[in-house]
Amino acid sequence: MTMFKEEENGRAQRFSLHGHWSSRIAFILAVTGSAVGLGNVWKFPYIVGENGGGAFVLVYLVCVVSIGLPVMMAEILIGRRGRRNPVATMALLGEEEGSSRQWKWLGLMGVTAGVLILSYYSVIAGWTLAYIPKSLSGVFTGASAERVEAIYNEFTGNWLSLTIAHTIFMASTVLVVARGVERGLEQAVRFMVPALLLLMLVLLGYAITAGDFAAGVKFMFATDFNTLTWDGVLQAMGQAFFTLSLGMGAVMAYGAYLPEETSISGASASVVFADTLIAILAGLVIFPLVFANNLDPAEGPGLVFVTLPLVFGQMSGGIFVATVFFVLLSFAAWTSALGLVEPGVAWVVERFGRTRLQAAVMVGGAIWLAGLGTVLSFNVLSDVVFLRGTIYQNIDYLTSNIMLPLGGLLTIIFAGWVMCRNSTSEELGGAGSIYRIWRFLARFVAPAAILVVFLRAVGVIG
Ligand code: PHE
Repeated sequence: MTMFKEEENGRAQRFSLHGHWSSRIAFILAVTGSAVGLGNVWKFPYIVGENGGGAFVLVYLVCVVSIGLPVMMAEILIGRRGRRNPVATMALLGEEEGSSRQWKWLGLMGVTAGVLILSYYSVIAGWTLAYIPKSLSGVFTGASAERVEAIYNEFTGNWLSLTIAHTIFMASTVLVVARGVERGLEQAVRFMVPALLLLMLVLLGYAITAGDFAAGVKFMFATDFNTLTWDGVLQAMGQAFFTLSLGMGAVMAYGAYLPEETSISGASASVVFADTLIAILAGLVIFPLVFANNLDPAEGPGLVFVTLPLVFGQMSGGIFVATVFFVLLSFAAWTSALGLVEPGVAWVVERFGRTRLQAAVMVGGAIWLAGLGTVLSFNVLSDVVFLRGTIYQNIDYLTSNIMLPLGGLLTIIFAGWVMCRNSTSEELGGAGSIYRIWRFLARFVAPAAILVVFLRAVGVIG
């Protein structure tokens, strides 16, 4: 992958400043790497738990297919057509398609959302890092549920430990982004996604034999809409955006480095499939174990960090499995973090003429600082609650449930209504039936669905 090599011959044919992916598979791997992360393994189970299970999962799946997939295709095609950072691409295409350069604000909202999301994402990724030495030390071996919970509470209650872990994660992200990813990322993802999938299958086997699998499956797939509020529906939609890395320009930025001949619909479908599979597997591993051990599915952000160590502590070879699991999850978080900073870094490089190193340090530094708000939300400032809860909960709500769906809505409106038919059909490989379905979803279904959920959730329509 040559994503970040400077390209000398500039814009004649509209090359990306940052180079291109070496192959179609490199692109799919990078987008999959960005999509598969804490969102699948940490966030999905815990918000499913908080929202009562099956109905939430169903809405999430419907959103992934009817909104996520078309928005992903829109982001990639816009990125590839503009070949710049999301801010410059939106300005350029806005003008080119006869609208306005003001579409750049959509790109800027994405940059901002990426910075805000990474500010808390990095803190949670720090937890996964910290759980590697914890697992190795054997503290979970034979530990009771109370003990595992106490370890989690002790750890998250200590702001200094959280700050150290957050700092290590952010520093390593900045380092990689600054150096240019070269082949490293591609290799990491090539290995990581299948390995994570394999490990989830092993854990699934364990959950089937040692957990209350029937209760877990029932919780995840029995749809009782009485438990689901419109705010829950908004959260399910927000999660679809979050887990697929949509609505903030990450996929758009990656699309800018995509060769002309690659099929956008095929690539999108593979990414959506892999991402959804890993999230569902995570749920199928976690909930049977929750019910078998009398834990609370609505326990919140600690769910994975309590459930899985408990189980690792009970299985033979648990130290090894636990260590491998948290290493893989850290990798997954890290490839997602790269997607979260890329729009910001690419923007600072192009807009302010900085080097990648300077840009990465500036953007990374701002994210690190903002992350302290999340660090403190779990200890010193855990009692400071306003609007949606702690600082962390507010940043999470604002980004996942407002900024990403809004970003996705504007992106799909741009692709469906502002861009002319010729431009979009050219990028999507001609006006065949896939194109017609995409265009219908992009013009009508996705925007209407996002709007209705928004308006319902804030109570504008009853
Ligand atoms: N999709 C990532 C996850 O599920 C998070 C992410 C969001 C990454 C937006 C990049 C952009 O963990």
